[in-house]
Amino acid sequence: MDAHANIKNVGRMLDSTHDEVHRQRFVSVLRKKVLVDFAKDMKTVYEKKVAGRHKRRTGKAPKDAREIRRAMLHEPVFEAWSSLRYNAQYMTWWSVQPAVERQLPELIQAAKDAHLANPAGGSLELDNKLHIPGYVSQLDVHQMPGCFQTEFTKDDVAQGAVYFYGTTVFSGGLAHRRGNKGSVGQTIAQYLKHKGFKPKRILDMGCTAGSNTMPYKEIFPQAEVHGIDVGAPCLRFGHARAEAEGHAIHFSQQSAEKTNFPDNYFDLITSSFFFHELSVPATRNVLKECHRILKPGGLVLHMELPPSALTDAYYNFYLDWDAFYNNEPHYEAFRNLDFPKTLVEAGFKKKDLEMIRIPNYATTKPEEFKAVVEGRGQTARRDHGGGAVWFTFGGWKR
Ligand SMILES: C[S@@+](CC[C@H](N)C(=O)[O-])C[C@H]1O[C@@H](n2cnc3c(N)ncnc32)[C@H](O)[C@@H]1O
Repeated sequence: MDAHANIKNVGRMLDSTHDEVHRQRFVSVLRKKVLVDFAKDMKTVYEKKVAGRHKRRTGKAPKDAREIRRAMLHEPVFEAWSSLRYNAQYMTWWSVQPAVERQLPELIQAAKDAHLANPAGGSLELDNKLHIPGYVSQLDVHQMPGCFQTEFTKDDVAQGAVYFYGTTVFSGGLAHRRGNKGSVGQTIAQYLKHKGFKPKRILDMGCTAGSNTMPYKEIFPQAEVHGIDVGAPCLRFGHARAEAEGHAIHFSQQSAEKTNFPDNYFDLITSSFFFHELSVPATRNVLKECHRILKPGGLVLHMELPPSALTDAYYNFYLDWDAFYNNEPHYEAFRNLDFPKTLVEAGFKKKDLEMIRIPNYATTKPEEFKAVVEGRGQTARRDHGGGAVWFTFGGWKR
């Protein structure tokens, strides 16, 4: 295959066998069953049985997520749900890994070709001396074997590919820019564009394989767009995909806790699904770094799970599952942070903070999206559940 055709292959569907395709479909359906239908049944058991029993025993309803967790821990419905959810998560990566391994030599070659030909004009800078923080290197985050940074062979892209193809199985495309379902990046960029904000320099922190970075370049084509991550295999894969899709994005291997960007450089700093994987001290460092490299007049707007202060105790119990069973040990502590206080400690002024729930652009009616942009409408749901509404937080630098 010539180099050009080879580059175009990066990010196309995996060449999975019949059995692998069906395994991937099975896992997607299983996840939906567990997260939607079975989750509803579990909540009913909590409301109809467990909460009442707790009240009879203690005189009070469970007061917070931890108390609900203790009350639910040995309930058969929780044990079954938790076990299915754990296995569906593990099987997500397992369902794409064999195909990635089989095609690894071609994927590596395609990424090299993309880097050399550089058709879109983006760039890739790796730093093999970068210290990989313990919250990434010491565990397989969300059970993805090898996490984001492991390199099994020279010029490896496997972890980027496993994440990219695995998230399609994981979320059926929503949140990660597949098909016409849109993405977090597209949603935030469209929201800001509708607001009349025109960032000239944009940074996506913890960009992994660039799925949520690319929409910024699509929606703000004149902007200089950067993506940083600590995982080299993810960056190689992301760079190759961006080049294949014609987006000049500058990927570099850096820690968001301490970057090499100058002071006051970016108009917009963003991220998606990033902070809940950091330790709390790292979260504080990253927010301080955001403030340092943000231009006066610029905006920081990160997408994350909503803080526990904004959601009810049962939903907190439900969301915090990942902290206990999904190798995301900082998840609960991150959500328990006082977000406004943490942003103010990082240098932002209280009056300039933002906490916005934005409905997913591609699956929301234009008039509903416009109403939310103009502050006239409520987002369809209060939580981020199902990916229908994205919670964002940050602030302006004045
Ligand atoms: C769940 S993934 C983010 C997913 C991605 N933003 C998306 O929307 O597809 C978290 C990413 O953050 C990266 N990461 C973790 N700590 C980091 C740090 N200190 N600096 C930069 N990237 C980091 C990980 O390597 C990983 O790729």
